[in-house]
Amino acid sequence: MHKDIKEILLSEEEIAEIVSRISKQISEDYKDKNLLLVCVLKGSVCFMADLMRNISIPFKIEFLRAKSYLSGSTESAGEVEVRSEIDHLDEYDVVVVEDIFDTGRTLQRVTEKMLQDGAKSVSCCSLLDKPERRAEGVDLPLDYVGKTIPNAFVVGYGLDFDENYRGLPYVGILKPEVYGG
Ligand code: XMP
Ligand code: MG
Repeated sequence: MHKDIKEILLSEEEIAEIVSRISKQISEDYKDKNLLLVCVLKGSVCFMADLMRNISIPFKIEFLRAKSYLSGSTESAGEVEVRSEIDHLDEYDVVVVEDIFDTGRTLQRVTEKMLQDGAKSVSCCSLLDKPERRAEGVDLPLDYVGKTIPNAFVVGYGLDFDENYRGLPYVGILKPEVYGG
């Protein structure tokens, strides 16, 4: 285990089980649809790459960036800016692939944007869910959930702290002393 990790929350084996379970569900649910997987960069890259290699029906992929502003003079608290330029969205049934559903604002905003841009349908898939952290006014359902976790800051398998730890093959809780806690 990496020296900065306090506890492993999702082992490699558990991640493989989650990927297999969700890939089967999506393959079944979308077999008569035109599936487009949309990866929310950057934290979801590992999950996306694993889902892609396990989903057994045809699909296409796209990527988008979402940026949240915590506070600032020009942005209001909790605003999320979504940058996406996906062509022919009106042809697709979209599954948005996220690393973690925290306040929920990112996935809510991404879903709104996909629908505004004409997607036939949008559902949400997140590796992790932190329900304790949900923001007021977020009522988006998660269609595919890997694992519900407690309110701790986690890294690995794509998730970062200050752009580090994304390459760990598991998801773990970061030691508080690493981020000055
Ligand atoms: P919201 O609050 O919009 O946020 O649901 C989702 C995004 O917040 C980041 N996030 C985390 N990143 N460890 C991380 O590395 C965490 O514990 C964590 N909690 C939230 C993440 O970028 C996610 O896409
Ligand atoms: Mg993210």
